[in-house]
Amino acid sequence: MDQFDVVVIGGGPGGYVAAIRAAQLGFKTACIDEWKNAKGGPAPGGTCTNVGCIPSKALLQSSEHYEHALHHFGDHGITIKGASMDVAKMVARKDAVVKQNNDGILYLFKKNKVTFFHGRGAFAGAAKDGVYQIDVSDPSSTSIAAKQVIIATGSNARALPGVAFDEKLVLSNDGALSIGEAPKKLGVIGAGVIGLEMGSVWRRLGAEVTVLEGLPNFLGAVDEQIAKEAAKLFKKQGFAIHLGVKVGAVKTGKNDVTVEYTTADGKAETATFDKLIVSIGRVPNTTGLNADAAGVKLDERGFIVVDGDCKTSAPNVWAVGDVVRGPMLAHKAEEEGVAVAERMAGQHPHIDFNCIPWVIYTSPEIAWVGQTEQQLKAAGVAYKAGSFPFLANGRARALGSTDGLVKILADAKTDKVLGMHVIGPVASELIAEGVMAMEFGASSEDIARICHAHPTLSEATKEAALAVDKRTLNF
Ligand code: FAD
Ligand code: NAI
Repeated sequence: MDQFDVVVIGGGPGGYVAAIRAAQLGFKTACIDEWKNAKGGPAPGGTCTNVGCIPSKALLQSSEHYEHALHHFGDHGITIKGASMDVAKMVARKDAVVKQNNDGILYLFKKNKVTFFHGRGAFAGAAKDGVYQIDVSDPSSTSIAAKQVIIATGSNARALPGVAFDEKLVLSNDGALSIGEAPKKLGVIGAGVIGLEMGSVWRRLGAEVTVLEGLPNFLGAVDEQIAKEAAKLFKKQGFAIHLGVKVGAVKTGKNDVTVEYTTADGKAETATFDKLIVSIGRVPNTTGLNADAAGVKLDERGFIVVDGDCKTSAPNVWAVGDVVRGPMLAHKAEEEGVAVAERMAGQHPHIDFNCIPWVIYTSPEIAWVGQTEQQLKAAGVAYKAGSFPFLANGRARALGSTDGLVKILADAKTDKVLGMHVIGPVASELIAEGVMAMEFGASSEDIARICHAHPTLSEATKEAALAVDKRTLNF
């Protein structure tokens, strides 16, 4: 039986990055991942690469180009007659982007001398003399041994009780990324990140999108001012968003699906859709891992229980990413994977969960880091807020993307940055400055004093920082 210092189970962003870092630190490392591509071959990269971050961003890009060609190129003097969208080609391009990423990970494994096993990994039992046996099955069939194990088995879409995903009419993220043609009527249950991103893709391609959200507030985790702005803009784009609904029976017909629901004011309603995306959160994936036998405890929701260092209840077994507590984000999984590898090597890395950025890749994008105004109010923290609209930013005007704003929240006494919130063009990139500021304990004045290139969108960040001290220059 091949013996390794470290075996990583799961090759998503948490697992494959942990494996690479462990190998860089001199550990003899293996990574096991079961994801299969259409031909049954290995497709490492997990949810993120295969049915998450990467394919969704590919479709968002294609659909945004199409929307621009239809509705915005005219503003630039460009006339396109008869623009059309070949959905099959768009989906094939997305598949090609995914494959580039799968292949890239296999290349990185080779480069870093990580041994890859394609198949499902399962603990054979508890450690014997400090060594765990991991059995690998389908399509590989072998057993390997390791002193240290990192579980990075990720998550799956949560289904509505009694409504299984058939991926034809009732879609998880998987099916939502592979619809053959734009549905006329698309229903989305859950106005969260997936619902809004996938809803945007298909709305841009012509679908009439209805979103049914259980909570009374839109984007409850987002800063209220930003969430209000987002709701206004999404409604203007044509999303029908119903908040505070209670979803009842979901009945699939031959070619459509009917949802019964009760509105916030108690009215019974029925809606029929060509496709229904159910995006109501995700559940940790520990199926077939035989975690129990190894002494790895799960909590009542199925997450692997870990301490602040990602140690599980079993000696020398660690767990990272979506399968443990904390935000279900690829970059959070990666940070944990790296940190675990470094801890195994005796280093002392630290992850500040308050500095993990969030991005929703709609148009405009929404991004934030740190605390929202409502969180600061609830915690009784005295703060100052400064914001700056893209309407007053030269680059945004030149781009034709003037919706949204940047907002910075700073401690009232010390001026330390406590949060940054953006809705607007490439908010996903702009937020990095807020993350850096918070990681370095910067003040809003620090951001305000930094020279930002002109004309850039990042000048809106500088202006928001100036606004904290009520001294914007361009608004
Ligand atoms: P996963 O990526 O789920 O990987 C786990 C891997 O382990 C999988 O390959 C799985 O097959 C494998 N596995 C499971 N059990 C076993 C076993 N027993 N043996 C062998 N292999 C096993 N996050 C972002 O930060 N940005 C985004 O833009 C973003 N977009 C998303 C869009 C969608 C539609 C979805 C669904 C998610 C998105 N996410 C995004 C979330 C992100 O995909 C996850 O947070 C991330 O993939 C978690 O990484 P992970 O390594 O913990 O798990
Ligand atoms: P989510 O947690 O973002 O949103 C789920 C929404 O569904 C919530 O608003 C919730 O109130 C609502 N909901 C739950 N049960 C419901 C019910 N029975 N009826 C109606 N509404 C209901 O979950 P989502 O969109 O499924 O995404 C899962 C996770 O994947 C995200 O939380 C995020 O961590 C990750 N992700 C990240 C992305 C990014 O970083 N850009 C993109 C997509 C996913």
